[in-house]
Order: sequence, then C-alpha cells, then structure tokens
Amino acid sequence: MTSRIFLKLCAAVLGVLVLALLAVDFLASRVAEASYYETETRMLGEKARLISSLAKLDPARVRDAGAAAGARVTLIARDGSVVADSEASAKQMENHSEYPEVKASLNGMEGSSVRLSQARNIQFLYVAIPVESGALRLAMPLEEVKANVDSIRRRMLASTALAFVLPILIAALIARRVSHRLGRIIEYAAQLAQGNFTPQHLPVASDELGQLGGRLTETAGKLRGMVDALEREHNELEKLERVRKDFVINVSHELRTPLASIQGYTETLLDGAMEEPELNLKFLTIIRKNAERLANLISDLLTLSRVELKQQKFQFASQRVARLLNDSVDSMQPMAKRKSIELRLPPHPENWHVFCDSEAVHQILTNLMDNALKYTPEGGTITITAERSGKMILVTVRDTGVGIPKEELPRLFERFYRVDKARSRELGGTGLGLAIVKHLALSQGGDVQVSSELGVGSSFSFTLPVDDAGFQGKTDIRDSLTVS
Ligand SMILES: Nc1ncnc2c1ncn2[C@@H]1O[C@H](COP(=O)(O)OP(=O)(O)OP(=O)(O)O)[C@@H](O)[C@H]1O
Ligand SMILES: [Mg+2]
Repeated sequence: MTSRIFLKLCAAVLGVLVLALLAVDFLASRVAEASYYETETRMLGEKARLISSLAKLDPARVRDAGAAAGARVTLIARDGSVVADSEASAKQMENHSEYPEVKASLNGMEGSSVRLSQARNIQFLYVAIPVESGALRLAMPLEEVKANVDSIRRRMLASTALAFVLPILIAALIARRVSHRLGRIIEYAAQLAQGNFTPQHLPVASDELGQLGGRLTETAGKLRGMVDALEREHNELEKLERVRKDFVINVSHELRTPLASIQGYTETLLDGAMEEPELNLKFLTIIRKNAERLANLISDLLTLSRVELKQQKFQFASQRVARLLNDSVDSMQPMAKRKSIELRLPPHPENWHVFCDSEAVHQILTNLMDNALKYTPEGGTITITAERSGKMILVTVRDTGVGIPKEELPRLFERFYRVDKARSRELGGTGLGLAIVKHLALSQGGDVQVSSELGVGSSFSFTLPVDDAGFQGKTDIRDSLTVS
C-alpha cells in the first residue's frame, strides 16, 4: 500500500519531467531553428553584399567567390536568366525569374526562401540581393542548418534533464517521507478498526497529514473513553444483577425459615401434640414468634422498597431536635428498663430545629436504639447525643455493647448483612434494620456513619439538615426534599 503511494508519487513526478522535456524540446527546436535561419539568412545576405561590393562582378570569378563564401553563388541577369553559377553550368539552368527570392531582388529588395533544389534534390536556403546587372544569389544546403539546430536541441535537452536531477531527488525524498507518514497513519487506522484504541504518538506537524494524525489520535481517545464508560456501565449492571439475585435468594431464605417452623409445629400439633397442654402452649408460642418474624420481615421489606423506590410519602416540616429525641427515647425506655440498661439523653440547645419527616427520624432512632439494646449486655449504657456540624445536626446513638469487628463495618448497611447471623435471628432480627436506617437518612437529605470497637461498644450516627431561619430561596434543601 505504502509503496504503491510512493510509486504513484514518483510516476507523477516523472510524468511532469517528461512533459517538461517535451515542451522544452518543442519550444527550443522552434526557437533555435527560427533564430538559426534568421542568422544564416542574414549572413548569406551580408556575404552576398560583400561579394558584390568587393569588385565588379565578373561571371568568370563566380566560382572563386562561391569557394570563398562557402556557399553556392549564382549571378542572374535582369530577365531571370542565369549568367554564372559556382557549382553548375549556367547554360543548362532554367530561367530564375519566378523564384521568390530572385523575384524580390529583381524588384530591388533582398529576398530569401527555403526549398528543394531541383539540381541536387536537397533543401536549400536561398538569399538573393539586387546588383547592378540583376541579382546575386547565395545558397547553402539546409542539412548543415538542421545539423546545427539538432546539436543545439541535444545540448538544451541534456542541460534541462540535468537541471531536473536535483528536483527529482528532492521530490523522491518528499514522496518517501509522505508515503512513510501515510503508512503509519494507515497502520494506526487499521489498529483502530481492530478495536485497539490505545492513543499513539504520530509525528506532530501542522500540515494536512499531521492534522489527520491528530484527528485520529483524538478519535482514538474519544473511543477509548466511550469503551471505558460502556465497560463501567456493564460492570455496574452486572453488579446490580448480582445484588438483585442475592436479594431474591436472601428474601426466600428468610421467608422459608419461619414458614418451615410454622409448618412443622402446626403438623406436630395436628398429629396429636394438641392433646398435651404443655407442648400445646410451647408450640403455639413458637408458631406466634415465627409469625411475628414473618410479619416484621414483610413490613421491613415493604418499608425498604418504598423508600428505595422513592414511593414513600414524607411529611417534611420543621422539627425541634429535643422533641424528636425525647419521643423516641421515651418509647424505648420500657425495653431498656427490662434489660437494666441506662438510656441517657444529655441536654442540648432547645432551639435546634431540623427539616425532616418526624416518622422517618423516629424509625431511624428506634432501629438504632433497638440494635444498641440487642447488642448491649445488661447493666450497659446507651447515650443519645446531638451536635451541630455546619448546616447539619449529627445525632449519635452510642452503646457500651459487644462492638463490631472493623472488617465488618463497610458492609453493615447492606440488606440482610448480619455480623452474627445465628445471634441476630435468635434476637428476632431480619438484617434489614440498618439498610432501612441508611435509606431513610438519605431520603431526609442526610447520611449515616458507624464506628465501633470490639468489647467496648459501637457508635451509629446520622445527619439531618438544620432548619434555621436563615434559609432562603429555591436552593434550600427543603425544596428538593418536599418535591421528591
Ligand atoms: N449496636 C450494635 N452493636 C453490635 N452489633 C450491631 C449493632 N447494631 C447492628 N449490629 C450488627 O449489625 C447487623 C445488622 O443490623 P440490622 O439492624 O440491619 O439487623 P438486625 O438487627 O439483625 O435485624 P433487624 O434490625 O432487621 O431486626 C446485626 O445483625 C448486628 O450483627
Ligand atoms: Mg436491627
């Protein structure tokens, strides 16, 4: 491909050269011929004038004059008859009055013409001047003129061809460079066509080839970006698909366990255990516990999907932080008492307000406190605090419980993720509590965070946007929250 381009460029240069040579040859031979004829005609005329002026023209000396002038000399009388000729017998020659050069000179002007000599059958250049007795004509064979013109042509062609050597070499070098650069661009384009979008450094230049290379590199970069984006999207979709599959597996597993238990104990009861009052009560209690678990699970799943799909309708309003915390703590106080756990709520500024849905915040707080109660041994302490951090209020539920290993923390807010599955189930957990907390916090314009130390305790926090009198206009968080 590359060499073909190179050959084409070379062929074009050679074509131009041949055309130039032909043009030079044509013009040079024309010009040389014309100027040579002109010179020869002038010289023959001068020689004729010299011969006529030197001595009185004696027919007997015409032969000598011819030899001295290096031309055929003819003396013609006024009637056109030949008086003497340096190379032929005058008597045998016909009347010359009709030849154009003789006719002109008999009329008093210098005349010239080129034609075939009848005597010698070759082309001659004739020049005739008027003399006293008639006309004096000098002639020379054109072969000589032609030979001289040919020699001039040859020399001109040779020098023209020589003058073209350097330009041809330069053109060949340029052609080679162009074809080499084109070759690299074609190679690069082929790589792009095969899906290799790694940007390459083509030689930088401001000419068209340089620009083409630049455009290709630019295109490769854009394609690379697009492919990367598609790959990312693909990976994201695969991840989502995995999450969806995991979710379906988890849900069916979580449903199956209590259902199997209910089914098993019901069958046992029907098989006769109903008759035994002790077993009867025990089995019915287990069945109720599992039914409650199922109800909790379904209720948690519904809450989660409503919040995730943004179908949950929130009643956003300005809420006093102290009231929100007090209400939630009060509702958990009986549970804490039962486990001999101290539930503390240190005071904080009464005028702090947040903009949120009070039910959502209540659910976040009770989920966190429920966990703290579940994973804190008797005699422990749970402290709920509120701090202001810029435009947010940070609420923290800190316990003195079992703690969570560091490596578990990043996945804690995933659905169904539980550190100790058996213990969580035993405590009636579904593993959805923290996932609900996270999605609810996000829906309120806040976020969640956790820190924990094994054997020391855990600290779960979430943020809520502050509702101060300073908010203005549409940029306020409240607009985006109420709209969605
Ligand atoms: N305060 C805590 N101390 C120690 N571990 C905790 C604490 N809170 C949560 N965890 C761990 O995080 C896991 C996930 O909590 P999450 O609230 O999502 O589920 P759950 O409490 O097991 O069930 P649910 O809250 O749905 O009844 C729990 O199983 C537990 O292992
Ligand atoms: Mg929980």
